[in-house]
This record gives sequence, C-alpha cells and structure tokens, in this order.
Amino acid sequence: MKSALRIALAAVATVLAGAASAATIKIGVIGPMSGPFALQGKNFKAGIDAYFALNGEKVGNDTLEVIYRDLPEADPARAKTLAQELIVKDKVQYLGGIYFTPDALAIAPLLEQGNVPLVIFNAATSAITQKSPLIVRTSFTLWQTSATMATVAAEQKVGKVITTVSDYGPGVDAENAFKKTFEAAGGKVVDSIRMPLRTNDFAPIMQRVRDSGADAVFAFLPSGPPTLGYVKAFNDNGLKGKIKFLATGDLTQESDLPALGDAALGLLTTFHYSVAHPSEVNKAFVAAAGKALGNPAELTFPAVGAYDGMYVIAKMIEATSGKQDAAKAVEAVKGLAWESPRGPMKIDPKTRSPIETIYLREVKKEGGKLVNAEIASHPDTPDLGFDQ
Ligand code: PHB
Repeated sequence: MKSALRIALAAVATVLAGAASAATIKIGVIGPMSGPFALQGKNFKAGIDAYFALNGEKVGNDTLEVIYRDLPEADPARAKTLAQELIVKDKVQYLGGIYFTPDALAIAPLLEQGNVPLVIFNAATSAITQKSPLIVRTSFTLWQTSATMATVAAEQKVGKVITTVSDYGPGVDAENAFKKTFEAAGGKVVDSIRMPLRTNDFAPIMQRVRDSGADAVFAFLPSGPPTLGYVKAFNDNGLKGKIKFLATGDLTQESDLPALGDAALGLLTTFHYSVAHPSEVNKAFVAAAGKALGNPAELTFPAVGAYDGMYVIAKMIEATSGKQDAAKAVEAVKGLAWESPRGPMKIDPKTRSPIETIYLREVKKEGGKLVNAEIASHPDTPDLGFDQ
C-alpha cells in the first residue's frame, strides 16, 4: 500500500474510533414536576440546568441527557414503575432526583440488577442509603439537622420542648434525633406529636402545643404546602412570642418566605443550605439557578441537591470512562470532597451521605427581602443517624 494511502486510512480509523467513544449518557430524574409539590421538582430541574450552564453538558466526549419523570407525591408503587421503565426501556445509566423517602425505599431493590446508581437529590431519612450499596445522597439527613437543633436548644437553655413531626420516615428520624440529643444534654421532651402526612388543618396541633406547657416547639414537615400551612398556623394561633419556634430548615424554605411575610422574622432553623450563603460559588449558583427558574424568588434547597448530584454523576462518568459499571461508579465518589454552593461538602465513604456544615439560621430582612441568615455553623456534621 502506498504510504500516503496508509496514512489517510489511519486518519479515517482514528476519526471513527473517536466517534464511536462519544456517547450520549442518559440520566433518569424522578421528582414532583406537577401537583402541590411542583415547585420542589422545578428546583431539581433548575439545579440541573444551573449545573449545565456553569459546567457544560459534556463529560469527556460523552454528552449528558436528562430524562424527567413526574411523581407528584409520595407514591412508592408508581416510583418503582417509573424507575423500572427508565432502566429497562429508556436505558438510563444513572438515576437521580427523588423528593420523598418512601419513593427512594421502593427504588432501592431495582438498582443492583439494573446496574444503575441512584443519586438522591433530596429524600432525607438516614436508613435509605443502607437499602442499597448503589445509593449516594447529595442532600442532608434529618438526623443532621434535628440533632444540631437539639444542641442549639440545650445551649440556649430551653428547658421543655414538644416535638411535632410528619408521621413518616424523616419525621420519625427528626423526632428521635431531637429527643435523644436534647435529653442527653439535660433537656426534657414533654410530648411528641406525629401528624399524618396529609394534615392541612394545623389549628388543633397548635392548641396541643399551647396546652403542653413547653417552652419551645420543635417541628419537621416536608417542604411545600404542609410547611407553609404549619408556620402560618403557628403565627395565626398566637404562639409567636409565647413559645419558641425551633425547626429544621424545611420549615422556612426561601420560596415560602414572601407568603409568610414579617411574621417569619426571628424563626430559628437548622439546615445544610441557605440561598443567602455568602460565597462566590453560591453567588454563581444562585444567578444560574435563578435564571433557569425565570423567577429567582422561587429558588429553594432541592436545587442545590440536584446541582451537587450532577457533579457527583459527572465524577462517576469520568471514573468509569462512560461505561456502565454502577459499583465502580459509586466506589469512585466515596470520599469525594468539593466546595458546594452550600459550603464544604464530602461524600462520607461509610454512609454515602454528605459530611457538611449544618447552619443555625434566623429569618431576617436584608435589603428589603426575607432571608435565612446563617448565624452559627456546625462544620463537618456526618449523618448521625446511620447507625441508629
Ligand atoms: C423526605 O421525604 O425524605 C423529605 C421530603 C421533604 C423534605 C425533607 C425530607 O423537606
């Protein structure tokens, strides 16, 4: 063969090989895209769009494609069907999203056979990551936020507390974490109320809180209409100023603050993320996610779980050179540390949940806007509930 021809053929072969290795990698994302919790799902999408805007849609030669599936409320059977379809029919290589705990638990048994990792952007019950070695979480756990709030309550010399939580996984974790930590520090939980997930009239709960004789109420409900209803009832039933309000940050998500108005001023919460977190990384994230939402006032924490979730998935793709190897992908991100818009964050190799700063925040008015101002930090908080 003439050498010029040989060189030309070699060049063609190189181009073809390059083309063959450039693939589209599909990521199936399940979340509440419609219904009462639609804003939370919209924030998943905003976080993903912000990730693409700031980091591009490619990992090496591979292009990422996100396939969204709508799961309006906690519905384990539907969650399982959607995940199965994404794995089998759409051939996704990764699963992400998941707002509610029961949906994460329903999907866990599908992952090993499907050879697909699940990166949880929100669901926050500690037990979830123990249900499959292929689950990694980029949000927080209720043990992190609730135990930290109990420490704060003890430091502030609060004596008697009544706990009020939604009656399902994360609520039970919140109640246990608060009670165990608070009583170990010398406080007393005088009563514990578990509210059905569908509760929307909180006046009777407020009556019980008032009658309990507690100095403070501790609360967890899943962010969305229930949290807005609960905080409004706390204010409307005259508890503000009489009983101290201590809650996880789910209760004062930024998108609810305008509706709560000045009545929200002074509310104390513990959480992993505030839109007001003062850092350059967060500033860039807030700008990109706000743009993706169209209305920046809608920005709330599921967006940061999704943004960091995409970062983790990109690292998994890098480590596996785009090949489908779920175990290797998960192994590669154990111990991964980076600066998130929330602050420093690391995937704990043991729990596969974040080790991160849990902030004490107070609702304040800054520049005419209600914000969750970070007033104290509890750095390097692991998922304290993993072994409970
Ligand atoms: C959950 O179901 O795990 C969950 C949902 C919403 C939250 C926190 C936890 O705000």
